[in-house]
Amino acid sequence: MNIKFPDNFLWGTATSGHQIEGHNVNSDWWEFEKQGKILDGTQSGKSVDYWNRYEEDHKLMSDLGYQAFRLGIEWAKIEPEKGKFNQDATKHYRKIFQSLKEHNIKICLTVYHWVLPLWVAREGGWENEKTIDWYSKFTEYVVQEFGEFPDLWVTINEPIVPAAAGYLGGEFPPEKKSIPLFLKIIEKLLRAHSRGYEIIHAKIPNAKVGIAQAYQWIEPYGSPHLKGLYEKIMAKIFRIGSYEAWDNAITTGVLKFPLKKAIYIAGVKNSYDWSGINYYTRASLKFDISKKTQGLIDFEAIPDGYEKTAMGWQIYPEGFYKILKYNWEKFKLPIYITENGIAEDADIQRPKYLVQHLLQVHRAIKDNCDIRGYFYWSFIDNFEWKKGFAMKFGLVECDCVNDPELKRKPRKSAYLYSDIIKNNGINDEILSKYNVKL
Ligand code: GCO
Repeated sequence: MNIKFPDNFLWGTATSGHQIEGHNVNSDWWEFEKQGKILDGTQSGKSVDYWNRYEEDHKLMSDLGYQAFRLGIEWAKIEPEKGKFNQDATKHYRKIFQSLKEHNIKICLTVYHWVLPLWVAREGGWENEKTIDWYSKFTEYVVQEFGEFPDLWVTINEPIVPAAAGYLGGEFPPEKKSIPLFLKIIEKLLRAHSRGYEIIHAKIPNAKVGIAQAYQWIEPYGSPHLKGLYEKIMAKIFRIGSYEAWDNAITTGVLKFPLKKAIYIAGVKNSYDWSGINYYTRASLKFDISKKTQGLIDFEAIPDGYEKTAMGWQIYPEGFYKILKYNWEKFKLPIYITENGIAEDADIQRPKYLVQHLLQVHRAIKDNCDIRGYFYWSFIDNFEWKKGFAMKFGLVECDCVNDPELKRKPRKSAYLYSDIIKNNGINDEILSKYNVKL
């Protein structure tokens, strides 16, 4: 094998503010964690302390040859109280961005990655119409203070996930379970995204603005007879709710869910300059009569012969290609893969996962998909939301629970990724060096 990616293909890693910075004390998640809601009993605390160790981390990225970095900016640090923009935090983020530039590392900045200032959450969060205005003011501030730095802008990370996890499944704050609310929150986030898109472009006309959309390849498990028919119907409904309704709104300006009135939202149509794809796994929806609160579907079923990661997600590289093709046909926009990766402690599955998924990216590029870059999730082990620090997504190991020094230890995969970047492709020599058997 000797595959090459296009010239100037952008190779990077991805993170988010709350998950790596630490010290996000004025946020809704900080409050949520204090209530003991994290499954491994941890709290984000200082996480890997990127807030103070960013220079060391940027040097490590540069030494490894990572060309770009996707990071967040925490609203709760910038605006800990309504209307009061914190100058110390502003100066600190400026130093972070300047350091990335000094290390010649391109910046993909996520304006909103799920975490709200506590004052916004206490005023109803995304249920409150005013939050769209407050988010818009925050975005204006970010553009005004940091607009010179990002090469890529992400207005919102995976909008459907906080809507589903916060208002349907109830695992995330504010822990509600209501289909009408879930649908309403998606509409609010879509409006917020379109406002963010307009605000960034008003100040920076040639900015490259998109979102990082969560995609799974969703299909029926394949049970026989009526169960199989039910699985097919539920897979269609799940695709619509997970991304099709949102994606259709971006191409038409109209948000439409089954059995609901269509909603036209000014400013939404074509509010992408590029399409951001987060892909990890396939969802094989399996009929299960015991899953009364999940529409009689087991969302964690894994067909025989497929490996599982520490997150319980099946490894299905083929689904990446299918999503990339769907996305290209849908938008015909430049694609950046804003997240792809695996949670695993031993770094045994990760080399093969990385190579298999990059081969699917290459396959899609060969099939005329205009894919411009890839951000591996994640640069470093970090706070995995409800699952805390138990999940290890990092190319770089960092033990937030047992190592008070928070030593950064690149895993073998960190060097594999480094060699792939150096080569701008994958060849037999790399596969053999890292013992990757496809
Ligand atoms: C997401 C989020 C990340 C997660 C990562 C692993 O895509 O869910 O953007 O914050 O940590 O995906 O689950």
